[in-house]
Amino acid sequence: MAGQIPPQFIDDLLTRVDVVDVVDARVPLKKAGKNLQACCPFHNEKTPSFTVSPEKQFYHCFGCGAHGTAIGFLMEYDQMSFPEAIQELADLAGMTVPTTSFVNAQPSRQNLYDLTDKVSQYYVHQLHNHPQKTAFVNYLQQRGLSAQIIEHFNIGMAPDGWDNVLKTFGANDQARKQLDEVGLLSSNDKGRQYDRFRNRIMFPIKDRRGRVVGFGGRVLDDSTPKYLNSPETPLFHKGNELYGLFQARKANRKLERIIIVEGYMDVIVLTDHGITNAVATLGTATTPDHLRQLLRSAPELVFCFDGDRAGREAAWRAAENAMPLLGGNHQLKFMFLADGEDPDSVVRQQGAEQFNRLVGQAQNYSDFFLATLEAQVDISSMDGRARLIEIAKPYLRQIPAGIYRDMLEQRLAEKANTNTAMLHKHLGKSAENTVKKHKKPLKSSSAISPIRMAITILLQHPELHAEIGAFDKLASLERAGLTILVQLLETLSQNPHLTTAMLLERARDSEHEGHLHQLAQQTLTLSAKELQHELTGIIQQLQQQAIEQRHAYLVAKGLGNLTDEERIEINSLNS
Ligand code: UTP
Ligand code: MN
Repeated sequence: MAGQIPPQFIDDLLTRVDVVDVVDARVPLKKAGKNLQACCPFHNEKTPSFTVSPEKQFYHCFGCGAHGTAIGFLMEYDQMSFPEAIQELADLAGMTVPTTSFVNAQPSRQNLYDLTDKVSQYYVHQLHNHPQKTAFVNYLQQRGLSAQIIEHFNIGMAPDGWDNVLKTFGANDQARKQLDEVGLLSSNDKGRQYDRFRNRIMFPIKDRRGRVVGFGGRVLDDSTPKYLNSPETPLFHKGNELYGLFQARKANRKLERIIIVEGYMDVIVLTDHGITNAVATLGTATTPDHLRQLLRSAPELVFCFDGDRAGREAAWRAAENAMPLLGGNHQLKFMFLADGEDPDSVVRQQGAEQFNRLVGQAQNYSDFFLATLEAQVDISSMDGRARLIEIAKPYLRQIPAGIYRDMLEQRLAEKANTNTAMLHKHLGKSAENTVKKHKKPLKSSSAISPIRMAITILLQHPELHAEIGAFDKLASLERAGLTILVQLLETLSQNPHLTTAMLLERARDSEHEGHLHQLAQQTLTLSAKELQHELTGIIQQLQQQAIEQRHAYLVAKGLGNLTDEERIEINSLNS
């Protein structure tokens, strides 16, 4: 999508809108020196660590690491897609988004949302009015659902029959095409289309903004499949959506904790019992994408699974996916219900208080992690303890370096009857890869690599690129980060007026995106003049090194072996 909007348009847009206005309209900001501040809307905190820089035109939270431009803020805060955020800002600035394909793409998507919304209302309407509604109403009653909760989750019914939805919403080819696009139709071998959902209780699945993106449909009896879900469609990706997240966010101004359960019914029944912070994945494992969304919504996540083998395996999968996100300001926990129970049955038989008590007793991530690994070895023998380290290795490497990993390693070492020094020896080099979220002031280039320093200066003061002199030989050097530096220099020499925010937007979806954002928010304590000096010095030095390296290479090749071109080159290098 991003490719369809010309980068120049995004540059213009970012010149016209002010990130301060965009954020302030949603999260009131207070002045704090050069910047503005607020309590971070993306995680729970009492003292503000969310800052917006009018100068750099981006926001950054020192607590949770959230960051971005005005575009990024709308995507995060309002859960907009990239094109939607662009459209929103363009409207604000009175600009027209150029690309035709882009403009055309917008209304059709909106039409799809309108369609799923209407179909959802249709299912609800059937539950109140259909001649055969009794069986459905009875089923819901028998499962203990109140009229209120049925309305709260917009539960409906798909009547029996092959073409109820098809007839009501598929008046012409175009309409049928859209029904198919949002996954409401199935077709047989002959290509004949019919309703996907028939004779089922219908649960609309809403995205974080409350738009209906798909459905789950449950049978009333023991037939299979018990639940039928929408297939993957342009609106619905199972791996992204969480059932109940919209409702949970709406019911709680600030979520302190989210409970992740397995089923639609679990979410609904818990909510009916006043536990309004439960969400469910849709018959899939918890994906890294789910986890990121969840951690943005609440600082504590409690995974609730069945106590049986399948439940434990699902929990371990969630734990594995969570590894790269460990540490920081959040907590992950696991709870297991007795075999054969699910949150629905527990809360109905034992009450909300008891369920909450179980949530309170959930196991810490580290306890679950270590216990699961320990169960695989014989910890009483030396061989078993050595094996424990071996199986922990690949996991530990995925955990960002920091206090959390250190402490986990410490505990692992204790369990294995060894020490962390010994452990580190065996974990290998990649365990040292540090993923640091926290701000570290950059005082001088001595503390960090010159290349990193140059990138940081260029990003924060793009105008300084004008005086750096030649950098044409740089690309031949092999150094960490050099590609990013060269790219940045080239971009700026072609587009001399880019700002920090524009450079960051150009890096959107590139592999360097995260890295650049991190450097953009570093504090540079030098004056503009000193920075200019520093930057020019680094580039000159690199250029010089590149020249010397090339020279040495050509000399080593031997004068007699050089091509004509290389001979000319070595002469020019000598001068
Ligand atoms: P469960 O069978 O635990 O769901 O499956 P549940 O909500 O507890 O079901 P009932 O109504 O109380 O019997 C957990 C989840 O797995 C997915 C659904 O998302 C379900 O909520 N699932 C399950 C399917 O997609 N298809 C199935 O056939 C069964
Ligand atoms: Mn159930």
